[in-house]
Amino acid sequence: MPTVKVLENIYWVGVVDWNKRHFHGYAYSTQRGTSYNAYLIVDNKVALVDTVEHPFAEEMIERIKEVIDPSKIDYIIANHVEADHSGSIKEILNLAPNATLVGTANCKAGLEKHYFGYWKFQTVKTGDTLSLGERTLTFLEAPMLHWPDSMFTYIEKDALLLSNDGFGQHLASSKRFDDEINQEILMWEAGKYYANILWLYSSLVLRKLAEVQKLGLKIDMIAPSHGVIWRKAPMKIVEAYLKWANGEADKKALIVYDTMWASTERMAKAMLEGITSEGIEAKLYRLPVSDEGDIIGELLETKGLLLGSATINNGVLPTVAPFLREIEGLRPKNKLAAAFGSYGWGGGATAAIEKSLKSAGMELVAPAITVKWVPDNAELQKCHEYGREFAKKIKAAE
Ligand SMILES: Cc1cc2nc3c(=O)[nH]c(=O)nc-3n(C[C@H](O)[C@H](O)[C@H](O)COP(=O)(O)O)c2cc1C
Ligand SMILES: [Fe+2]
Ligand SMILES: [Fe+2]
Repeated sequence: MPTVKVLENIYWVGVVDWNKRHFHGYAYSTQRGTSYNAYLIVDNKVALVDTVEHPFAEEMIERIKEVIDPSKIDYIIANHVEADHSGSIKEILNLAPNATLVGTANCKAGLEKHYFGYWKFQTVKTGDTLSLGERTLTFLEAPMLHWPDSMFTYIEKDALLLSNDGFGQHLASSKRFDDEINQEILMWEAGKYYANILWLYSSLVLRKLAEVQKLGLKIDMIAPSHGVIWRKAPMKIVEAYLKWANGEADKKALIVYDTMWASTERMAKAMLEGITSEGIEAKLYRLPVSDEGDIIGELLETKGLLLGSATINNGVLPTVAPFLREIEGLRPKNKLAAAFGSYGWGGGATAAIEKSLKSAGMELVAPAITVKWVPDNAELQKCHEYGREFAKKIKAAE
């Protein structure tokens, strides 16, 4: 992978992590790998915007060397403390010991607590600028998008927003720009990324987008720290973020469940037929054989969720519990939901699911549907009907 010229005197010097399959430990899947994008700005002063995960430090340094001697770096702009972007700061400082780190106050404190390095640091706030010569960097704090330290760096001369994690996608590619790759894959990965990382912070996303609009920043290009650079259609991803953050979803349904002896599954399939008989598209996922990160990605643009579990030991199956935890954490806005499941005696799974759906902020549109032991034909018919009613609620929703 060569160093890539993004614009005159601005270079991509990041790395592609082709084999990354899980992110944030094992919190969610990244089947298409990812990239850590670092950008080198060569002006009278030289700035490196972000670095890469530690194991890739040498690769990034090699790329920088294709453009300049790394000792010439004057500033390291740290838009975010997280290790996938800060992990090679020490290595760069070894080569450029006089470089000044630049970031928010939270970034300074966070880097010190991560690396125990008390480096030369220039703290910046929203609106602060740093002149490199021809170009001036303007900083825009973006707290909780997605960490307290997060920041965007804007270059007016190039109408370029270096947005760090914002607008990223976990997508390894030999291509660096949005117009060079399959749009459907790109938007799916951008959405999955939003759903798994930013969904909880949707109200802050809306506020930040409004703030950027109010500042009247001209944006011709958005260069995030993961995936491809939005040069052809930067507004495409901004509009998608607006849609996702506003909780706009398609009139579709997801059925997510697990089962021991297939009764809950029979219920699920009868409901699926009921939903689709109303002309509403539905998809069905059994949790342990499905990818949770992908289901969360699907849920982003899906209006309705039916969540089911057989009862085990008065509650949900252990395979369902992590999904409940996930939706409670992400708090998806504007979703219609209901619970279902088979039980043998006292039950308990659907009550636990309903509690989680409520705590996730979803609207329960019907009391849970339960079946004792194995559903008979009449009960399957009820499930079918339940699915139809659910579809009607989806149709009637805004
Ligand atoms: C290990 C085990 C524990 C169970 N615990 C409960 C329970 O606490 N309360 C209950 O109502 N049913 C309990 N059941 C019964 C199941 O919920 C019942 O068999 C149900 O029909 C299974 O649905 P499924 O076919 O979708 O797996 C338990 C079953 C097993 C195998
Ligand atoms: Fe991050
Ligand atoms: Fe990141």
